[in-house]
Amino acid sequence: MTLDANMPLQEINGRIAAVRKRLGKDLVILAHYYQNINIVRAADFVGDSLQLAQSASRQTDAKYIVFCAVSFMAEMARMLCQPHQKVFHPDLAAKCPLAEMAVISDVERAWEFLKGTGRRVIPVVYVNSRADLKAFCGKNGGFVCTSANAGKAMDFVLSQGAVPLFFPDENLGRNTAHTLGIKDDEMFLWEPYTDMPKTDPSPIAGKKVILWRGFCYVHVAFKPSDIDDVKRTHGNDIKIIVHPECVPAVVQRSDYVGSTSFIKSTVEAAPPGSRWAIGTEINFVNRLRDDHPDKLIVPLKEWGCREMARVTPLRFLEVLENIVNGKPQPEVAVDPDHAKYAKIALERMLAIT
Ligand code: 13P
Ligand code: SF4
Repeated sequence: MTLDANMPLQEINGRIAAVRKRLGKDLVILAHYYQNINIVRAADFVGDSLQLAQSASRQTDAKYIVFCAVSFMAEMARMLCQPHQKVFHPDLAAKCPLAEMAVISDVERAWEFLKGTGRRVIPVVYVNSRADLKAFCGKNGGFVCTSANAGKAMDFVLSQGAVPLFFPDENLGRNTAHTLGIKDDEMFLWEPYTDMPKTDPSPIAGKKVILWRGFCYVHVAFKPSDIDDVKRTHGNDIKIIVHPECVPAVVQRSDYVGSTSFIKSTVEAAPPGSRWAIGTEINFVNRLRDDHPDKLIVPLKEWGCREMARVTPLRFLEVLENIVNGKPQPEVAVDPDHAKYAKIALERMLAIT
């Protein structure tokens, strides 16, 4: 059913609460930290992508899981929850552009080349990716990782004497490798959109990590000059904390780097009166600021994720009322073959976390 686009927010929130009451334990709502405050308030669990994966795998009782984030995260929930459960997403068109920067045909082309070099390579795909790429990792001894455990995944691969093929986010891969002491000249950047070597193995000789040219348009918007600006306004002692999808030049000038849950716990644990500039999605930064009036919390720059914002309170209400009205949709579906192998890569991730 299509709802009145001009419905007042108060009515939307009231109707959301009514559906939640009516469905009780049959319904679980999972939301990413980057979601709008009205979605976050209605959610049973709010987390970063790793916490949401862990939560989805534990939801064994609810009949319906409504997942509020970008759609690949809802696919991940579909793969990790029970077969009898149904997963819904308020707008399946909410696709993360970073996830679209690696497609299976390009990854297979890279893989064929790498196999021919004689190096042992293990694929590590960032959770912001299509299901067929997660399946590719499952089939080839690889992992899924999130920003919270990319270091563990990369370290595990290196400890096996292998080279991680890390895709699709170059910055997360590079920043993670830096934290493991790996230098830029020990990394090889695979350029999926240019003519890469087809047979000559010399470009990757001695390289410890293979990265993929992909990026998050939200996080690459933060620049070193934003750090200068914020220090000019708030003083040099303000702490800078950023997400690892930011470019290395920003990460290297920051005091802390980590996943969304790391940012949240670090700021929460800081003493009253502490001062923070945060480089990540604006909904999350604004909520941290509102929840901690005893600290100064400012965004490094006001910058939001348009795809996360596709989950509006109205679309969220629509999906909830569709369940109540016996016409549940839009339902999240994953090709069963992709799901089978992707789940292996996701479970490997959960096992090393
Ligand atoms: P987290 O792993 O911190 O949840 O990040 C997901 C994401 O999409 C960041 O842009
Ligand atoms: Fe994708 Fe970036 Fe949005 Fe995260 S913030 S969902 S990586 S576009």
